[in-house]
Amino acid sequence: MALWGGRFEKGVDAFTQEFGASLEDDKAMAQEDIKGSRAHAKMLAKQGIISNDDAAAIDAGLEKISGQIADGTFAWDVNDEDVHMAVEKALTADIGTPGARLHTGRSRNDQVATDIRLYAKRLCEELLEGNVELRRTLLSVAEKNLGVVMPGYTHLQHAQPVLFSHHMLAYFWMFSRDYTRLVAARTAADANPLGSAALAGTTYPLDRDYTTQLLGFDHAISNSMDAVSDRDYLLDLDYACAVSMMHLSRLCEEIVLWSSTEFGFITLSDSYSTGSSIMPQKKNPDFAELTRGKTGRVYGDLMALLTTMKSLPLAYNKDLQECKEGPADAAKTLLDCMAIASGMLETMTVNAKTMLAQAGKGFTAATDVADYLAKKGMPFREAHEVVGKLVLYCEKHGKGLEDLTAEEFQASSPLFGDDIAQDLDPAGIANARVTYGGTGEAAVRVQLAEAKERLAAD
Ligand code: ARG
Repeated sequence: MALWGGRFEKGVDAFTQEFGASLEDDKAMAQEDIKGSRAHAKMLAKQGIISNDDAAAIDAGLEKISGQIADGTFAWDVNDEDVHMAVEKALTADIGTPGARLHTGRSRNDQVATDIRLYAKRLCEELLEGNVELRRTLLSVAEKNLGVVMPGYTHLQHAQPVLFSHHMLAYFWMFSRDYTRLVAARTAADANPLGSAALAGTTYPLDRDYTTQLLGFDHAISNSMDAVSDRDYLLDLDYACAVSMMHLSRLCEEIVLWSSTEFGFITLSDSYSTGSSIMPQKKNPDFAELTRGKTGRVYGDLMALLTTMKSLPLAYNKDLQECKEGPADAAKTLLDCMAIASGMLETMTVNAKTMLAQAGKGFTAATDVADYLAKKGMPFREAHEVVGKLVLYCEKHGKGLEDLTAEEFQASSPLFGDDIAQDLDPAGIANARVTYGGTGEAAVRVQLAEAKERLAAD
């Protein structure tokens, strides 16, 4: 018989029972449920609503159940519907009457909201740690490879030479903002709904500030209807995960490209590659691809929750039971993918020579050649035109800018002198960009120091 079975004459069939249950999703937050119940019981005793003896029996009983859940000996039964009733039923079976007093002044509606908020905070903590780990790897890869020059791209066409470290650090900053988003999601979850009861509060003299303190929440939620019925903090978590997956997906797309024969910029470690069952030569970047692919499901988790929440009238509706699986999936997916990306980056080989060779191809010096003319007094627009023509000339003659003779340069503009050579060197071009945030080594060193400072602060 369900704990709410008093007014019912018959139960649902097994399939319907399973359909309505949330036990599977709840298991992940079982320890939070127990923590919430222990705080509630302690508060009930402090307020004289139950006796100290009852509270002590409840506390000991819940501690025992917590141990059983942790070591896998707790007997889960789908007929209990959810973790709240499973734990309460087991408690009462064990300690008798005091267990039956636990639910005084409480509803599963504020109970589940409490569990989810505690759980969301824990997920955020784990994600924040994973995020820091990934950024630590990016930073060390950037630091180790300072001096490696690669082509920078726009439209996936060679644009200008950049330092590989600069490219890596671009991701560092993206993930730093993801960190900020995760902190915001944790802050959003950090409020106590316990004591809101079903929707309207309760007639018992509960001390909500006390449970807030016991559970480590920042404050008690001001409105009982808001407390039991919104899940916007889970949307914040889903959103933070979705954005971070988007960043990971971009990084992984580059890893896939860079490890291809066409690019050859990096070689992935065997430990982060797989083979083909038919083609003996294959070494595939499966884990980068999978991370890119899993971005879809995390976007899906965000969309699913947004859609579940829309149009729900206040206050609690059973629809809200659907809110738990997605955020748990989003968080686990991001956590796993961050660890995979970190491992991939840490173990890959950076093929500096290939990168450098490519950095000079595709007329990546063109901007600097135009700047050369502009610095000699030619208006930049005119210089752009002159160098555009020079590139066209090169293309027609199958040459690179670096292959042009002094006479050929002179023919396109008399302003060209021998010193143009230094503006054709990819490393020189990259390292000349020392404005704040630029790719020049001196600027990247400043950036590395800032990144270290940021990491130490997070
Ligand atoms: N299993 C429910 C959930 O996950 C708990 C709250 C149920 N409340 C209710 N009035 N049916 O949302």
